[in-house]
Amino acid sequence: ANLNERSQLEGISLLEKLFHHLLMNTEEGHDALEYLLNRGFNESQLNQYKVGWALPGWETAAKLLEKKGFDLSLMEDAGLLIKRDDGSYFDRFKNRVMFPIEDSKGRTVGFSGRIISPEKNEPKYLNSPETPLFQKNSLLFNFHRARGAIRKEKFAVLFEGFADVIAASETVSNAVATMGTSLTKQHIQQIKRLTDTVVICYDGDHAGTEAAYKSSRELASNGMTVKVAKLPSGEDPDDYIQKFGAEKFRTDIIQQPLSLMAFKMWYLRSGKSLQSEDGRLSYINAVLPEISELSSAVEKELYLKQLSDDTGVSFSSLEEQMKSYSPVQKQIQVIPESVQPQKKSSILKA
Ligand code: GTP
Ligand code: MN
Ligand code: MN
Ligand code: MN
Ligand code: MN
Repeated sequence: ANLNERSQLEGISLLEKLFHHLLMNTEEGHDALEYLLNRGFNESQLNQYKVGWALPGWETAAKLLEKKGFDLSLMEDAGLLIKRDDGSYFDRFKNRVMFPIEDSKGRTVGFSGRIISPEKNEPKYLNSPETPLFQKNSLLFNFHRARGAIRKEKFAVLFEGFADVIAASETVSNAVATMGTSLTKQHIQQIKRLTDTVVICYDGDHAGTEAAYKSSRELASNGMTVKVAKLPSGEDPDDYIQKFGAEKFRTDIIQQPLSLMAFKMWYLRSGKSLQSEDGRLSYINAVLPEISELSSAVEKELYLKQLSDDTGVSFSSLEEQMKSYSPVQKQIQVIPESVQPQKKSSILKA
């Protein structure tokens, strides 16, 4: 790291200590601490993740950094301060619970700050801006701590929110989360160095389900084995843990994931009404090509049975129809289009 970067890391680290101290040991941090304990985090988690509190004032961090001799324009570049028109600086983060974000080397490179009481026009979470050190497209929360556990367990758990990582940490130590962005190739490459299996456990709401579908495709297309641990509707991992505890979360959710195919079927089914003929046909047309790509005959049979149960179409018709999607068909694709057999669903669309 060059000198400027080293100084920025030191500034970030100084604020991390300040925020943590304010949360754990001061009267000013009392309400924030109470908020965190009430939502189920314990002191050991708060210490391990060095959670903190940024005061409501405008210049707490700016003054401390100045007093300690930091170059404030470098601290602005690190995302800690914002420059006023008159050239003075004020704090980016105030009146927020502060979650330090570490890079893959375990260095704190930024923060995400959460409001504890709803305020107008304030986002729930405020992140450090993109800087050379803080790049959300490659940052995975907890990657540094989880590395050993991911290797040992031979899979990684992927959460939607970093709060879920902390909430689950007592029983699930092989977990990481993106920073509110979609899953990128860089994220996947980092995980892939440790394991080829990922259990996605996103929030049990519409956004979480859509994001899980997207991430599952991204992971699978990068050669990863994907499973999806589903939560009761409307709950996220941290809600679930608050209700049922971290032990039950591990045994009943993380250790009981759906296979990728089962998740896809659930997902495709949930978007279509199987009451109507159109719904059933479009469900079948979406699922059959996917089943035909499975390499295991046992799995094929399993999911065809499921499809038959879901739609009331006989197993043998589905099996017959699936032949039009079989890999043999793919090899025929070298034949000029004019002589290619009709590809899709002649039976079902008839
Ligand atoms: P809690 O309400 O504290 O439990 O948050 P959560 O972990 O349930 O987060 P949520 O499911 O609402 O969002 C998932 C992730 O999206 C968070 O961890 C953030 O990284 C990101 N996110 C959520 N809200 C915001 C926001 O207002 N601004 C930004 N920048 N990111 C957000
Ligand atoms: Mn109290
Ligand atoms: Mn969510
Ligand atoms: Mn959530
Ligand atoms: Mn939550």
